[in-house]
Amino acid sequence: AQFWLRGVRPEQPVAHDEAAGIWNVYGYPEILQALSDHAAFSSATQRLVPETNDKFSEGNLVQMDPPEHHKLRKLVSHAFTPKVVADLEPRIAKLTHELLDAIPGDRTELVTDLAYPLPVIVIAELLGVPSSDRGLFKKWVDAMFESSDQFSLKERTKEQEEYFAKAMDQVQQLTDYLVTHAQERRRQPREDLLSKLVLAEVDGVRLTDAEVANFGMVLLVAGHITTTMLLGNTVLCLDAHPDQYAKLRADRSLVPSAIEESLRFFSPFAAVSRATSHETELGGQVIPADQLVLLWVAAGNRDPRQFTDPDAFDITREPNSQIAFGRGIHFCLGAPLARLEGRVALSILLERFPNLRTDPADGPEFLPSPAMTGVKRLPLLL
Ligand code: HEM
Repeated sequence: AQFWLRGVRPEQPVAHDEAAGIWNVYGYPEILQALSDHAAFSSATQRLVPETNDKFSEGNLVQMDPPEHHKLRKLVSHAFTPKVVADLEPRIAKLTHELLDAIPGDRTELVTDLAYPLPVIVIAELLGVPSSDRGLFKKWVDAMFESSDQFSLKERTKEQEEYFAKAMDQVQQLTDYLVTHAQERRRQPREDLLSKLVLAEVDGVRLTDAEVANFGMVLLVAGHITTTMLLGNTVLCLDAHPDQYAKLRADRSLVPSAIEESLRFFSPFAAVSRATSHETELGGQVIPADQLVLLWVAAGNRDPRQFTDPDAFDITREPNSQIAFGRGIHFCLGAPLARLEGRVALSILLERFPNLRTDPADGPEFLPSPAMTGVKRLPLLL
């Protein structure tokens, strides 16, 4: 799945895919340049994809540019503070133990048993929507991701059109669900993130129900599938590198740096997208205005100009300036939560199942999208 991480860079850090109508950026410094220049590389990419509906972009932090982005980010950061995240540690540990207690016998399918439910329950509880609805979230989010393979801006096939229509329908259902919850919190606030969001003000203005719902959707989507991938990837990386696995078992204080190395080695969100606002030079190439640019952070994280021996998985790598959470003004808001979930879950897994390993008779199944690096099924022997 990661074949393109090798070979294409750094000889060609910026490459134009004429057939798809996309510019691919693979080099670390080029990606950082684009991430730090939001005037030239806009996050409002939806304007280049005619089928996307504008109303889904309201409140979607990821697709906003300054000054709107700055205002909303300030508001939501306020409701999503490091203290709120740090206070979740005992709850994450308890949930992890409960989920592991429920596994019968000496085998597990890690995604179903832990890596999917854990982050979804945490984000649902934080938002204040019933975590028992997680089957619904999974249905909606899976359909959205299925269609995310359709990167081409040129003519789509009938099948691609159908995927797209299905995804839009799922987005609408999730939005309606969150709008209903936001309206309830406006009438009767509770001690949850949705209530904080409906009550918060920027320059005396409150968020609309649609903005609250769309931000909630960003959290539900960005907040669970990526952490699911992080957990699966970390176990896979350790399993494939027995020397590193042994080092970690012998010294659990290496768990945080093992998580950082997993993020670098198998970056869950392989790429982030931008749209050029005007003609811009990047990596010696001139990119015209209004072009879709994919910044492949997964490839940048293997750039030998930045990382020594980049294709080696080394849990003691120091420094590790991985960019799996992006950089600059859009730096992942959930990074502290993802790191905490990864750290807590991995520590508990190592403590309870020191012999955890992949099942030679039943191999992992990877997500089909090139935009995501992760497993959808990971059978393990406990
Ligand atoms: C933004 C990756 C977990 C919420 C981002 C971006 C990346 C990313 C690359 C930047 C997007 C861009 O520049 O266009 C990841 C990875 C995760 C993870 C790899 C787990 C391993 C989470 C979690 C949450 C979250 C757990 C929420 C609970 C967000 C939000 C943004 C964001 C709200 C938008 C920030 C902004 O535009 O200002 N994430 N994420 N992410 N992430 Fe995450």
